[in-house]
Amino acid sequence: MERYIIKGGKPLVGEVVIGGAKNAALGILAAAVMTDGVCTIDNMPNVRDINVLLQAIQEIGATVNRKSPNEVEISGRGINPDDLTVDNDFIRKIRAGYYLIGALLGRYKKAKVVLPGGCEIGARPIDQHIKGFRALGAKVVIEQGMIIAEAEVLKGNHIYLDVVSVGATINIMIAASMAVGNTIIENAAKEPHIVDVANFLNSMGANIKGAGTDVIRIRGVEAFHNTEYSIIPDQIEAGTFMMAAAATRGDVIVKNIIPKHMEAISAKLLEIGAEVTESDDAIRVKADHRLKHTQIKTLPYPGFPTDMQPQMAVTLGLSTGTSMIVESIFENRFRYVEELRKMGSNFKILDGSTAIITGVEKYVGAELDAPDLRAGAALVIAGLAADGYTTINQIGYIQRGYERFEEKLRGLGGRIEKVDSDEELNRFIFSSGSVKKN
Ligand code: EPZ
Repeated sequence: MERYIIKGGKPLVGEVVIGGAKNAALGILAAAVMTDGVCTIDNMPNVRDINVLLQAIQEIGATVNRKSPNEVEISGRGINPDDLTVDNDFIRKIRAGYYLIGALLGRYKKAKVVLPGGCEIGARPIDQHIKGFRALGAKVVIEQGMIIAEAEVLKGNHIYLDVVSVGATINIMIAASMAVGNTIIENAAKEPHIVDVANFLNSMGANIKGAGTDVIRIRGVEAFHNTEYSIIPDQIEAGTFMMAAAATRGDVIVKNIIPKHMEAISAKLLEIGAEVTESDDAIRVKADHRLKHTQIKTLPYPGFPTDMQPQMAVTLGLSTGTSMIVESIFENRFRYVEELRKMGSNFKILDGSTAIITGVEKYVGAELDAPDLRAGAALVIAGLAADGYTTINQIGYIQRGYERFEEKLRGLGGRIEKVDSDEELNRFIFSSGSVKKN
């Protein structure tokens, strides 16, 4: 089974180029099936969750033409409206299959999609998605693990979300963009990828205003047309490399990003004593000394992102003093703490949602299991900062959301290799950080 082997203790130094935003791409690729025209989508991250969604899109008859690893053409022309069932073993494991409910319901007024999976970071209900579809006039039932949504006509409505949800905001926005009349979504999520999905829909002919604020106004249109679109940079991939620079006391320029999207992360890095320098489309993070403690609460954008919580925690675990992190979005996002303890960290979890972190001077290498996508990436950072060798199992989680992760880290001088046998692992250890595969 594939795992990472890491020889830690070396600061990351150099430049890294960030790819397209996975969580924007998932909404955009689903929405692309709403036209018989051709959507050419660039800067698409070539990661597992994306490839699973593309496969699901093909299975319902859409055309997917992969022009290069990061560029795809999609057309909904071949979709058979009489069979709009989305289900396979892979789509069951990802979260974003549910965007196909919004897309198919919007375009064809019906959809049957398997209940979403995704990382096990909490209960992750979808009641707000369903509330939105129902408000648009759809009948929605859950039968045998499938969500079945159907409407004679989708009609615009005024929808107030009871919780700020990224997924529900995107899903309702997608469906409402082809409803009759006007929709207002209140208490909408404001993440950069919501703006990106709205911009993509608008480029196909939708009429969406206010994305990026907490009130989104949508005037439904009858049909969409061809478009060419480039996905925004991935805020979380960028943040992960920024944190890797800080935790390893390195000096890294994170390129091809939108610095405005990184403000919550940059602010915390500055607060704990890292040097953070912004330019138009890059951020340099430098830390040549031990960083300080702080307090963090995860919040919807523009607050500190839950998807950066584990990476930040790993950094604080090496900082001076005692830090506190409150996780307010998902209830099960501290599962990496048990793994990190094996490296000599000092974390206490209170009531499941608060971590008290007493910084230690060093982590020591250990054998770890990645519990989910972002926690997996955080453990890689811990391994890069640690003394000695770390192995990380279950890296499939990490591959769901990070493209060529180990390659990009090696580009910064990180000694990390993906191995799939004990022999390869031993070869890495004997060669102290570089293994030549046969
Ligand atoms: C999206 O998940 C992302 N996933 C997650 O990224 C991210 O952690 C999360 O937003 C928060 O930023 C995708 O975009 C595919 P939510 P999503 O709906 O949409 C509650 C990663 O690592 N809620 O904003 O599922 C929910 O339980 C992943 O890339 C309801 O109560 O998150 C949570 O407490 C992991 N009812 C809160 O809202 C609902 O109907 C926010 O969830 C929907 C959500």
